[in-house]
Amino acid sequence: MYATTLLLLLVLFAGGGHGEEKQSRGHVSVVVVGGTGDLAKKYLWQGFFQLYSKQVSSGHTFSFYAGGQSHTDKVTPIFFSILKAVSCPKDISEGRCAVLKEQFLRLAQYRQLKSLEDYRDLAQHIERQVQEEGLTEAGRLFYLSVPAFAYADIADKINNSCRPAGGAAWLRVVLEKPFGHDLRSAQVLAAHLGKALRDEEMYRIDHYLGKQVVSKILPFRVENKRFLDPIWNKHHIERIEIVLKETLDVQGRIPFYDKYGVIRDIIQNHLTEVMALLTMRLPANLSDSEEVLQNKLRLFNSFLPLGKNQAVVGQYQAYRAEVQQELNKTKDHVSITPTFAAVLAHMDAAQYNGVPILLISGKMLDERVGYARVLFKNDMFCLQHGFHCKPKQIIFYFGHGSLQYPAILVSKNLFKPSVTEGEWKEVMDHTNVNVLGSPLSDYYIQTPKVQRDAYAELISHIFAGHKNSFISTENLLASWDLWTPLLESLAGSIPRVYPGGADNGDLLDVRLKGKEIDYESDVVLVGPDRVGGAPARNLLVMQGKYRSGDMVSAWAEELVERLAADIQEAAEVAVLQGGVFHLALSGGGTPIALFHRLALHHFSFPWGDTHIWMVDERCVPLADPESNFHNIHEHVLQHVRIPYHNIHPMPVQLKQRLCVEEDGAALLYQEDIGRLVSGSRFHFVLLGVGHDGHTASLFPHGKTTDGDDGLVVLTESPVKPHRRMSLTFGAINRAHRVALLVMGKTKHELVTQLSRVKDESNKWPVTGVKPTNGTLAWYIDYDALLG
Ligand SMILES: *[C@@H]1O[C@H](CO)[C@@H](O)[C@H](O)[C@H]1NC(C)=O
Ligand SMILES: *[C@@H]1O[C@H](CO)[C@@H](O)[C@H](O)[C@H]1NC(C)=O
Ligand SMILES: *[C@@H]1O[C@H](CO)[C@@H](O)[C@H](O)[C@H]1NC(C)=O
Ligand SMILES: *[C@@H]1O[C@H](CO)[C@@H](O)[C@H](O)[C@H]1NC(C)=O
Repeated sequence: MYATTLLLLLVLFAGGGHGEEKQSRGHVSVVVVGGTGDLAKKYLWQGFFQLYSKQVSSGHTFSFYAGGQSHTDKVTPIFFSILKAVSCPKDISEGRCAVLKEQFLRLAQYRQLKSLEDYRDLAQHIERQVQEEGLTEAGRLFYLSVPAFAYADIADKINNSCRPAGGAAWLRVVLEKPFGHDLRSAQVLAAHLGKALRDEEMYRIDHYLGKQVVSKILPFRVENKRFLDPIWNKHHIERIEIVLKETLDVQGRIPFYDKYGVIRDIIQNHLTEVMALLTMRLPANLSDSEEVLQNKLRLFNSFLPLGKNQAVVGQYQAYRAEVQQELNKTKDHVSITPTFAAVLAHMDAAQYNGVPILLISGKMLDERVGYARVLFKNDMFCLQHGFHCKPKQIIFYFGHGSLQYPAILVSKNLFKPSVTEGEWKEVMDHTNVNVLGSPLSDYYIQTPKVQRDAYAELISHIFAGHKNSFISTENLLASWDLWTPLLESLAGSIPRVYPGGADNGDLLDVRLKGKEIDYESDVVLVGPDRVGGAPARNLLVMQGKYRSGDMVSAWAEELVERLAADIQEAAEVAVLQGGVFHLALSGGGTPIALFHRLALHHFSFPWGDTHIWMVDERCVPLADPESNFHNIHEHVLQHVRIPYHNIHPMPVQLKQRLCVEEDGAALLYQEDIGRLVSGSRFHFVLLGVGHDGHTASLFPHGKTTDGDDGLVVLTESPVKPHRRMSLTFGAINRAHRVALLVMGKTKHELVTQLSRVKDESNKWPVTGVKPTNGTLAWYIDYDALLG
C-alpha cells in the first residue's frame, strides 16, 4: 500500500503544481527475470535506479519487479539488500538521492516467476495497480537475465499472459547473449522467439553498444566527415585493429565458457559490432535505425569468407586443469576451446579492398584494455624525426589500459576533430602516458564529460525505444553467417598454449601474410589431425621454429632417425670439404636411442674420418658406469670402426685424482681442441637439456664460462656427482651446427616453459646456446612437445 500512495504522490509531484496532473506520461512496469542474479546485482538495478532518477521528473511512474525461481519469503531480503547497495548518479545531490532511493525501494518487490500462473498473477497485479491508481499504462519492460535456454519458454509465457491490453502500451523484452552458438542455433532461437515476440519488441543487448566511445563512433564519423571522407579508404588506411585484452581467467564460468570460447564470447558480437560501426556506410540520418541496419547488413555481405587461415587461436595454460576440475573430467581430458584468438578479415568493397582488419581478444593477457584503432599510411620521410612522420591514427579507446578513461584520440598530424556534442569535452592535460606508441601530447583527445556505465546507457535507450543500440534479428544472423564458417573450420584446431600475463612475451604475436594470418613464432606445431589426444600416426616429421632456432618434431622413433640422418649429412659434407668431421656428444639417457641408430648404420657413416669429443663429463673414472664416456663407448664406439686416436674423452682423471683445478685438465682438453679442430669449431655439437634448464654441464646460477676464450671448464652440479667438466658456451656457440635433443613426456612442462622465457643463460643455461656463426636446431619429440 505504501507503493500506492507514493505513486499518487509522484504523479502530483510531477505535475509541478501547474495543474497538469492528467499529463502523467504513463506507468512503466519493469520486470527483471533473474532479478537477484550476478548481472542484476552488479549492473541492472543500478541502471534502473539511474533511469528512475532521470525519468521520475518527466512524469512517468514506475514499479519494479525482480522475478526468480525461488519463493518470495526467502529471496525478498536478498533483493532489498541489492537495491540498498545502488549508488547515486553523480549529477544528483545527496539529499535528493536519498529521497529517490527510498521511493525506489518502495516501488520494488520480489515475485516468484516460475509457472504461467505466476506470470498471469503478475499481469493481473500490474493491471489492478494501474486501474486502482487511475494511471494509464505506458509499457512493460521485461529484462531476461537468465540463461539463454530459458528465453523461448519465458517469451512464450510473456506473450501468453503479460502483453499489455489495448495496444497503446508497449512491450519490450530485453535479452542477453548468447544468442545461439552458430548460424543454425541462432536461427532456431530466433524462430522460437519470433513466435512469441515481434522483432521491434526484442532488445538484444550487446553491452559494447552501450559503451560511450562505441556509441560515439558513428556520430564522430559524421561530425568529422569533411576530414575523414578523403582518407577513410584503402588508399590511406594501413589497417584497422579492434582489440579487447583481458587479464582475468574464466574460472568459475567454465561450464558456459568451454562451450563457447573467445570467438563466440567476444569477437562474433562485441568486436564485430565495433567493426561494423567503423566500416559501414554512414547513414543519411543517424537516428533512423532502419537505415543504420540496412547499411550494416550490406557491410556484412561484403566480407570475404573467413577460414582457418584467417585466424590463430590460443589457450591459457591453466585452462586445461580448470576444465578438468569444473567439468569433473579426468586428467586426460583435453579441451581445445580457445581463450585467445586473432582474426584477419578483409572486405570486398571498392572503398576498403585490401585493408586488413584485425580482431583480437583473449583472457589472461598482459593487460586489460579495449580499443579500435584506425592506422593510416604515412608516406612522409622526415630527416629529423619530424612531426609529419609520427604515426597517424584514430583510436577509439574503450577504457582501462594506460589511459584509464574512455576517449577518442586523433593524431595531431591528421586533423583536429570537432567537439560538437555537449556531452563530450577536449582533454588538455597530457599526463605522461603513452597510448599505442605515442605520447598523449601527440593526440587531440576527447572524452565524455560524465562517464556512464554501459548498462545504464542501454537501459535508458531501451526506455527511449532507441533500437540502434541493440542487435536486430537480421543483424544477428548476418554476423553468425560471417563467423560460422570460421568456427567450423577451426573446430579441430589445437590452440597454442600460453602461460598467461606478462610471461606470454611474444608468444601470441601474429604476422599478416597477404590475406592470411599466422603466429610470428612457430613454437608448437600440430597437425589438424590431432584432436584432443596424440598426433595421428601419419604425422611423421614436422618442421618449424622453437625459440629462435629451427625445430624438428616427430614421434620419438622418427625423430631419432631424422637426427641421425642430419648428423650423417653433416659428417659427409665436412669430410668432403676438409677430410675430417668433429662431433661433440653429450652423455645422459636421452641420446641412447640415437647412439644405437648411429651404430646400426655404421657402414655408411664416415667413422674413419670422424673425431668424437665430449660435451661434458662427470668427475668419475672413465670406466665408471656413471661416466658419459663409458656410456658413449658402450653404445656407439665399440660398435663402429673408429680409429682409437680419434676418440677424445675428457681428462677428468689426472695424477690419479679427479678434477682438481690445479691439474689443469680443462686447459689440457681445450688445447687438444685447439690443436685438432680447425678454429676450435666443432662441426656438430649434440646437446640435451635438463629439467632445470641446464645444458652440457652448465647449471643454473653456476659458472658458465671461464673468461671469454675458455672452451672447457670445471663446474658444480646440484646433483651427484657434483664435479663436472664441460664445454663452455664459447665452445658450443662457435660450432657449425648445434642440435638440442629433447624427448619424453616429462620434458613437456620444460618445453612449454622454455618457449616463453627470455634469453637468460644464468637462470636457463640452455638459452645461452646461440651459435654465432652456425645453426641451432631443436629436435623435440611429440611427447615432449605436446605432453
Ligand atoms: C502470441 O500469442 C498469441 C496467442 O496467445 C499468438 O496468436 C501470437 O501469434 C503470439 N505471438 C505474437 C508475436 O504475438
Ligand atoms: C531521422 O530519423 C528519425 C527516426 O526515424 C526521424 O524521427 C527524424 O525525423 C529523421 N530526421 C530527418 C532529418 O529525416
Ligand atoms: C562433479 O562431481 C561432484 C562430486 O561427484 C558433484 O557434486 C558435482 O555436481 C559434479 N559437477 C559437475 C559439473 O558435474
Ligand atoms: C662463418 O662461417 C663461414 C663458413 O662456415 C666462414 O666462411 C666465415 O668466415 C665465418 N664467419 C665468421 C665471422 O666467423
